[in-house]
Amino acid sequence: MSDVEEVRGKKSLIRFEAKRCIHSRHCVLDRPDVFVPNVQGEWIHPDAATPDEVAALALSCPSGAIRYERLDGGPQESPPLGNVLRVRENAPLAVHANVTLAGHGALLRAPLCRCGQSANKPYCDGTHAEVGLAAG
Ligand code: SF4
Ligand code: FES
Repeated sequence: MSDVEEVRGKKSLIRFEAKRCIHSRHCVLDRPDVFVPNVQGEWIHPDAATPDEVAALALSCPSGAIRYERLDGGPQESPPLGNVLRVRENAPLAVHANVTLAGHGALLRAPLCRCGQSANKPYCDGTHAEVGLAAG
């Protein structure tokens, strides 16, 4: 079975990769009609939002677990003009770049573990908060 859940709406397609989710909950808190929390069965509803809104939701997902494809002819997610690596205080490295990670394929956004304790390396899985990562 694929690690990526894919839901096709009429105007947008949403992909969700659970193993990259760091449970920041932006998605379910910002648009509980699109990402419905705590339900049995289908919880992703692309057509509850416009394609622009779906794109904005995906881009606000800090882990890159949510990706989208527009089916309305609008612009797809594209790499940033310059590759960006943000060093976030007491938190993972935030990559926004056109990169390919060995064994993980191409990606545009990802939080990379820098505490060394993630069970899902190279991605952060939130363990840094439990181990008290203290790094500027
Ligand atoms: S990391 Fe992304 S998919 Fe996971 S809860 Fe946060 S916004 Fe949702
Ligand atoms: S930085 Fe988040 S688990 Fe390591």
